[in-house]
Amino acid sequence: MTEKKFQLNTGAEIPAVGLGTWQSAPGEVKKAVAYALKTGYRHVDCAFCYANEDEVGEGLQTAFDTGNDIRFPKKLDGSRDLVLSWSHLQTWKQMEALVNTGKTRAIGVCNYSVRYLKELLQVATIVPAVNQIENHPYLPQNDIVKFCKGKGIHITAYSPLGSTGSPLANDPAIQALALRYEVPQSTILLSYHGARGSSVLAKSVTLSRIEQNKLTIDLAKADIAILEGIHEKSGALRYVYPPFGVDFGFPDKP
Ligand SMILES: NC(=O)c1ccc[n+]([C@@H]2O[C@H](COP(=O)([O-])OP(=O)(O)OC[C@H]3O[C@@H](n4cnc5c(N)ncnc54)[C@H](OP(=O)(O)O)[C@@H]3O)[C@@H](O)[C@H]2O)c1
Repeated sequence: MTEKKFQLNTGAEIPAVGLGTWQSAPGEVKKAVAYALKTGYRHVDCAFCYANEDEVGEGLQTAFDTGNDIRFPKKLDGSRDLVLSWSHLQTWKQMEALVNTGKTRAIGVCNYSVRYLKELLQVATIVPAVNQIENHPYLPQNDIVKFCKGKGIHITAYSPLGSTGSPLANDPAIQALALRYEVPQSTILLSYHGARGSSVLAKSVTLSRIEQNKLTIDLAKADIAILEGIHEKSGALRYVYPPFGVDFGFPDKP
């Protein structure tokens, strides 16, 4: 079992497994983040809409004991600084400007379909380092993955276990592979992404699972083919439609 890393188009490395924090409840997420960082995680996903950023920041502070007040950007009155009237292209230009100040080292996108990536690349002077998308054997999104690979954009997979309650662990092909490799089903599901050259975010607030998820295995070519073939029988299954009121251009939703 290994702790892999991938190289981004910035030259920096990204750990193959990161900790997800969506739906990690208050009172639990600080402990989970602190534990993950103390046990070697260096890749944590957080977001405005998870509504737990302050506690994620506290977890970071606990792990590193920086003495600093680590917080995510907000206005002075405590509200989030969002300009909803802007197009994603204007936002990208502002993110590029941020890289040029040296305040951030890499910028990326999430939930970008090929349609939006093409729009973005027409105006971008910095190619996104990462596109974070839902990805697992039931939703390989090969069109996006292939497009990103061609442009040097790294894929980070989210909801790799099928989200809440990890339903993908019940798939018979996953169970058979887990039995053969003598690992938990979650390890097969997370290792699938390493084989595709992608990093993956696994959410857990359970300390033993946080520890377990960090370690992935190398799968044989024939077994990767089994995983790649699962969606052909099951059909595409998406677990998460981010409720932002935006048409993401996903081919599996009108
Ligand atoms: N950008 C976006 O729009 C977007 C959307 C969705 C998700 N994400 C990111 O991706 C992360 C992961 O996706 P997700 O939260 O949807 O779901 P997930 O990671 O696929 O699954 C999480 C579920 O699996 C359980 N679990 C974790 N490790 C396990 C293990 N080793 N064995 C058995 N069960 C295990 C967790 O339970 P416990 O916590 O109880 O252990 C939880 O119920 C999110 O947390 C978030 O950071 C981003």
